[in-house]
Amino acid sequence: MKTLSDPVKSNPYIPMMAEIQSIEPLTKNEMLFRVRLPEPLNHRPGQFVMAGLPGIGECAISISSGPESGKTLEMVIRKVGNVTGVLHKLKKHDLIGIRGPFGSGFELNDFHLKNGNQETLIKDIVIIAGGLGLVPLRSLIIPIMEHKSDFGRVHLIIGSKTPREALFRQQIQQWKIHPDCSITELVDNTDFQDWDGDVGLVTEPIHKLNIIEKNTMVVLCGPPVMYKFVLMEIKMNFNIPDNHIFIDLERRMRCGLGKCGHCQINHVYCCKEGPVFRYSQLTDLSEALN
Ligand SMILES: Cc1cc2nc3c(=O)[nH]c(=O)nc-3n(C[C@H](O)[C@H](O)[C@H](O)COP(=O)(O)OP(=O)(O)OC[C@H]3O[C@@H](n4cnc5c(N)ncnc54)[C@H](O)[C@@H]3O)c2cc1C
Ligand code: FES
Repeated sequence: MKTLSDPVKSNPYIPMMAEIQSIEPLTKNEMLFRVRLPEPLNHRPGQFVMAGLPGIGECAISISSGPESGKTLEMVIRKVGNVTGVLHKLKKHDLIGIRGPFGSGFELNDFHLKNGNQETLIKDIVIIAGGLGLVPLRSLIIPIMEHKSDFGRVHLIIGSKTPREALFRQQIQQWKIHPDCSITELVDNTDFQDWDGDVGLVTEPIHKLNIIEKNTMVVLCGPPVMYKFVLMEIKMNFNIPDNHIFIDLERRMRCGLGKCGHCQINHVYCCKEGPVFRYSQLTDLSEALN
């Protein structure tokens, strides 16, 4: 049990050591790590952890498992540099340091069919993921699918560069069987590989969405270049209020706690107030979507 008198458990800078249960290659550069924590994270969808190793360093990694995953934490780690390079060399039963959960994340309540906070009926949830953006959004999609009767229609648009980079395809097939759930999977190009989805950018299916605008929540996560064009397409075709659009941003992070300033966007600390923002919070932050 967490007590204030325990200096290790009450110090957010000290990682808990989690045992790796499995490591599954998803693509050439991305691995799914399933780890066992000493205690449940009790996270919200969209939050992140700092993952690393003593003497090596740590980096921000999104939580990909759903909020009811208990002591199990799933993360997809792309090998890009120092820390992720070392994490990719770890094996089953090795230990990995985890701090968190950090950040704002999503409130599931905001997406419920009977949305108590705003007294609105949320009939449609549109989730648009580009590339690795599906990883944090999976932590939101899982509880929605697990409790589907509490939510309205779900429209997923999932884009990858090529079929080789498409993530969680088997799980996406299982999501498709839920009632009132439409899923469009796209790749920028097939690269001459087998592909049963669409070819194109995630912006292309947006105008075809059959939604009730004022009762719709939209969620976006992907490479920074995606946001401008997706927002343009949404605004051109629908009249969805800015506070019904959620954007998951990525910034370089060090402490995860609002202390070091590495993640600052204008006057806002992305690690604390984000990484999930309502679009209405970003319209005055000139550096947010650049
Ligand atoms: C909220 C959040 C969630 C994230 N979730 C995930 C996730 O789920 N999975 C995942 O794989 N990654 C995720 N990331 C990204 C991950 O934290 C970074 O890729 C991290 O830098 C990797 O650490 P590294 O030491 O391996 O790479 P680094 O050695 O830090 O290098 C990474 C890349 O960044 C460049 N770089 C290094 N320093 C700088 C700098 N100061 N300015 C600009 N570029 C620099 C390097 O040249 C290299 O190309 C997330 C980031 C955030 C903020
Ligand atoms: S990462 Fe240190 S202030 Fe946000």
